[in-house]
Amino acid sequence: MKYALSISAGAVALALATSSVAVADDHKYAPPASANAQDFIAVFKELNGVHPGLRKAHAKGVCAAGKFTPSAAATDRFNTALFDSGEVPVTLRFSMGGGNPEADERQGTRGVGIQFQLPNNQQHNIAGITSALFSGSTPNHFLGLLQWNLKIMRGEATREDIAKYIAANPSMQAAVEWNKGKMPSTEYTNADYYGIHAFWAAGEQQREKFRWQLVPTSGNEYLTQEEQKSLPTTFLAERLMERLEADGEVSFDWHWTIGAEEDPTNDPSVLWPEDRERVHVGKITITAAGGENCTPINFDPMRVVRGIQPSDDPVLPMRSAAYAISFGQRLSNQ
Ligand code: HEM
Repeated sequence: MKYALSISAGAVALALATSSVAVADDHKYAPPASANAQDFIAVFKELNGVHPGLRKAHAKGVCAAGKFTPSAAATDRFNTALFDSGEVPVTLRFSMGGGNPEADERQGTRGVGIQFQLPNNQQHNIAGITSALFSGSTPNHFLGLLQWNLKIMRGEATREDIAKYIAANPSMQAAVEWNKGKMPSTEYTNADYYGIHAFWAAGEQQREKFRWQLVPTSGNEYLTQEEQKSLPTTFLAERLMERLEADGEVSFDWHWTIGAEEDPTNDPSVLWPEDRERVHVGKITITAAGGENCTPINFDPMRVVRGIQPSDDPVLPMRSAAYAISFGQRLSNQ
């Protein structure tokens, strides 16, 4: 059970030498031929149990609030409602990947959802995790991973099967490599978060493709192996409150990496080259945490404002559909 819950969208927390695994049966280890949003909700519930009123993924988390201040570079270069209004309030939620409301915070991927509250009741959402890549080029790859975890939980498969599944599906390997050896952050606010997908932003002349990253202004800090053993399983929300009490606020710089013509927009399992231009588009400052202000929010990343467009990444519409189901269920206490 615990093992299954360490899987989240972008991060496969496996210490596997995938390249050394011989794949005997390609068909057995192919991703499911079809995947829809209901399949995801069903498998999340089977893996984690049914928790009425809670998110079916990223079940454990904490609300926060603050503001977004766009940079001059952002307002000069992009023509979007996101940057047109100067400083705006934001509602955030930090979370643990997976659908376990008791997730062990000494391991695993962290997530953040942010809603920008723009004038005229417009809202723009982003939701990212502490992994730069998605586990595969399609939603089907991720569904397959969850289904293998379910089989392990039921005693119908072993970790070796997961290794074979990843070995049989090359697009899943970059996320495993990227996450290999990385320790989880000591606080929600000292890790980098990645939007993973490509989006489009309107420029002066033409639209530009971008991927976003949030970088904590105070730097990254990771748990030591000693801390991983000694800490309780729950500490992140408390540390966020303590941080705000001590420092008054905590912030992230928001960067957009601008894709070149040849950089794919439809494959979240492929990193763009490191030399791509990065624009500092602004700062997110968190000033309060706790409470329920984020509970009635669906941080659907396809809810965007004028001047921003989702790309053709096939994972994006799957997310949108799955979030809508989870949102509807949790608000009606299912
Ligand atoms: C096919 C892929 C995915 C599926 C099916 C999926 C599904 C879900 C679901 C059902 C929720 C709960 C939504 C709610 O009840 O409001 C959720 C939350 C979340 N997901 Fe995903 N997800 C996927 C991919 C991703 C990716 C690629 C990222 C990061 C880039 C991500 C980041 C998050 C975050 C941060 C939350 C928590 C949002 C909050 O605090 O409300 N997910 N996901």
